[in-house]
Amino acid sequence: MNRLSRLFLSSVGSKYVMALTGLGLMMFVIVHMSGNLLIYFGKDALNAYAHNFTEHPVLLWSARGGLLAIFLIHLLFALRTERDNESARPIRYVYEDTIQASWASRHMMLTGVVILLFVIYHLLHFTFGIVDPDDFKYAIEPKEGDVAGMVIAGFQQPLIAASYILAQVFLGLHLWHGGSSWLQHLGLNGRGYDTVVNYVGPVVAAVVVAGNCSIPLVILMRWIY
Ligand code: HEM
Repeated sequence: MNRLSRLFLSSVGSKYVMALTGLGLMMFVIVHMSGNLLIYFGKDALNAYAHNFTEHPVLLWSARGGLLAIFLIHLLFALRTERDNESARPIRYVYEDTIQASWASRHMMLTGVVILLFVIYHLLHFTFGIVDPDDFKYAIEPKEGDVAGMVIAGFQQPLIAASYILAQVFLGLHLWHGGSSWLQHLGLNGRGYDTVVNYVGPVVAAVVVAGNCSIPLVILMRWIY
């Protein structure tokens, strides 16, 4: 085993991998939310944004592949860290001691699993059109796909809207802790940046939950139709 693989498989290396992949996923969530918020500028704005991706298939598939790889690495290293923590008990994992051991920090696996289940459901809904086939983008507009129409028709159904809002609560809890702990794992705490480190997670969580929940809520209230 060479030096690099030994580093990544060590517990310090695992924390770097979790931190960097977590940062990548957090950036995806922020960019994805910003794109979806275009719905406030009209259906055409969201559709133009979505069509931009489909018009560049190489870019789209590279981004999808990269995202999937980051997601899988994050998941595998989370399982590995959990297993190592189990075998090291009663010595607890360092993040529980250094950042205040909040509910969110003690339930990262639980909130992570709910996010995984949500992403599977979300892909079956908006990417593959299996959850709500009648309102799928290509059922509404066979040639180009009407992404905005699909989102609006989907969130007009209270159960679907509620499932998205509930999932955002778990995503928010995950980001609340994870949004700060990646900075700590990269060694930024204790160097005069503690206040920033401790606030990044809660601020990102609040912005993402507010932004993502606003979309099903305004559609459910028929403010956008
Ligand atoms: C209310 C919140 C959300 C809305 C309205 C929304 C909307 C959408 C839509 C419309 C698509 C399909 C885009 C297209 O067909 O061109 C999509 C894909 C996707 N969304 Fe979301 N999303 C939301 C939240 C999330 C969250 C929280 C995550 C991750 C934790 C996420 C992850 C994904 C992924 C991975 C894809 C697939 C991207 C691809 O096919 O390339 N979404 N979303």
